[in-house]
Amino acid sequence: MTLSDHLATAHPALAELILAVADACVEIAAVVRRGGADHSAAVSVNVQGEVQKGLDVLADDILVRVAARSPALVAMASEEQDDIIPVRDLTAEGGYYLLFDPLDGSSNIEVNVSVGTIFSILPALGAIPDRPAVAADLMQRGRSQAAAGYVVYGPQVTMVLTTGEGVAGFTLDPETNIWNRSAERMTLPARTSEYAINASNYRHWAAPVQTYVDEVLAGKDGPRGRNFNMRWVGSMVADLHRILTRGGVFLYPWDKREPDRAGRLRLMYEANPMALIVDQAGGQAFDGMTDILDTPVTGLHQRVSVMIGSAEEVEHLKALHANT
Ligand code: AHG
Ligand code: MN
Ligand code: MN
Repeated sequence: MTLSDHLATAHPALAELILAVADACVEIAAVVRRGGADHSAAVSVNVQGEVQKGLDVLADDILVRVAARSPALVAMASEEQDDIIPVRDLTAEGGYYLLFDPLDGSSNIEVNVSVGTIFSILPALGAIPDRPAVAADLMQRGRSQAAAGYVVYGPQVTMVLTTGEGVAGFTLDPETNIWNRSAERMTLPARTSEYAINASNYRHWAAPVQTYVDEVLAGKDGPRGRNFNMRWVGSMVADLHRILTRGGVFLYPWDKREPDRAGRLRLMYEANPMALIVDQAGGQAFDGMTDILDTPVTGLHQRVSVMIGSAEEVEHLKALHANT
């Protein structure tokens, strides 16, 4: 079964937009594969105050150009652009907003480690005909998403997607550029013994996160009663794909180096799409106070603390946070 066949039962306008995003990711995959010094060269600084690599901008350009072909697309927002990109007025059969991180894991480009694209699709509920979209129209909570997905540019190019009825996986055939369904329904084991965190930040974390890591490091003689393994790729997409495939929990929590900043990762186009996918696969996503799908939206590029993955681990993290 192909991606196109898999989408036969989705709303036609939504299916068309997802297929346009998939086409863009085929182009991005080809650019990633070619490599080149210009990909990892710093080219500018984005709204986040982060250095933009050549490939960040290339991937952003491709997504904006290709996704705009979809008649149902009213507006877009990108990690790499300050403001939204209005595309067209709402159409009679409704419309959508597309939000994306065009290239996730930029620090891995020059060392040939998997990078990815993350996307979120929201219903254009706020759209008013003849009024161009404004950022506030896109600032909807994660639970409102109509679809969410990511693509990993790794040894295989894989897309994982949900339109609200479970999570499916697709692998790109490099000869035909067709996305073939490789997993009909991906589910997350409730129990895991594998966690992912940038351990070098230990001294900056809040106490509940330090306690969580202390417990897993104590292994089978500690309070968790079993040994744990750790992985950290440095690309959220690659870490989350491992977790969707074999279970696990991923943490990028608030830390005290920038106390006014809720976290490192962005809510609208990293945490929310991943939270919908993980929720649909039976896992959970927590921001230190509430489920990420319910995190109030205060800005297009707002950051959030992220603890996401197998249900048992996120439940335990919620308990540790409740006791503070
Ligand atoms: P991006 O490249 O889009 O800025 O995202 C990178 C994020 C995320 O993918 C990854 O988990 C995290 O940054 C890695 O952060 P550290 O380099 O601090 O470990
Ligand atoms: Mn990212
Ligand atoms: Mn990025």
